[in-house]
Amino acid sequence: MDKKFTVRDLAEMKAKGQKVVMLTAFDAATARWAQDAGIEMLLVGDSMGNTVLGYPNTLPVTLEESLAHTAAARRGSDKCFLVGDMPFMTYQLDIHEAVRNAGRYLKECGADAVKLEGGRTMLPVIKRMIEVGIPVVGHIGLCPQSVLKDGGYRVHGKAAEERQALIDDALALDAAGCCAIVLEGVPRELATEITGMVRASTIGIGAGSGTDAQVQVLADLLGYGGDGYLPRHAKCYVNFYDLATKAIRCYADEVRTGAFPTDKNSSTAAPKK
Ligand code: KIV
Repeated sequence: MDKKFTVRDLAEMKAKGQKVVMLTAFDAATARWAQDAGIEMLLVGDSMGNTVLGYPNTLPVTLEESLAHTAAARRGSDKCFLVGDMPFMTYQLDIHEAVRNAGRYLKECGADAVKLEGGRTMLPVIKRMIEVGIPVVGHIGLCPQSVLKDGGYRVHGKAAEERQALIDDALALDAAGCCAIVLEGVPRELATEITGMVRASTIGIGAGSGTDAQVQVLADLLGYGGDGYLPRHAKCYVNFYDLATKAIRCYADEVRTGAFPTDKNSSTAAPKK
């Protein structure tokens, strides 16, 4: 990418039927990898809670953690459209607090938009954010911040009533002016149908190939965790855990045998040649 990806590019790609690729990133290095690999959109997802911060799920992630990681991702990528993912309890309590928190992603981190979970119940908050100039990405279907309420992670929208509720949520978020809507864990036929009904770009995860964009969690894609767990919706392209532990073991062996450091790796008092 030679220029900054914006909401206009997002809308244009939907109009042309071109797929947009989004990936999570959580620091400057991972954001740089993604940008250099041609990714258009980055999400500093609260999934960093369970993939890199060692939490059991996304709920403990704090606003300050999310802001710090979003700012780091911005430092690593100047062209990608960067979305900060608002953590649990930073936007649900009070509209003013929610808008102030959302504004921090733009002012302090250089984010291009914020994402928050929930459909029609979140409309007053979303509308106010958009009114004051904060681009919002909606998120409906499987909402990981509701894992305790739902008793686990499951596909949403199989039953007729839930299916209709998802369509109504998507239409409401679209009418409110969301620039994109994440559809997570939604049957592919429904995700495709919603994609055809809304102006906003749909971003699928576990929702089939009919959405305008796809998002994946970097840790799944790169096989980071080492626990062997891979959600059904994900594909692991490289076993990063194996590569990393092998490299670290080599380093440890070389230190123990004296093979590292060599003179080449050592400081010296001799003048530079
Ligand atoms: O936090 C995250 O990574 C997300 C994606 C799964 C959409 O919300």
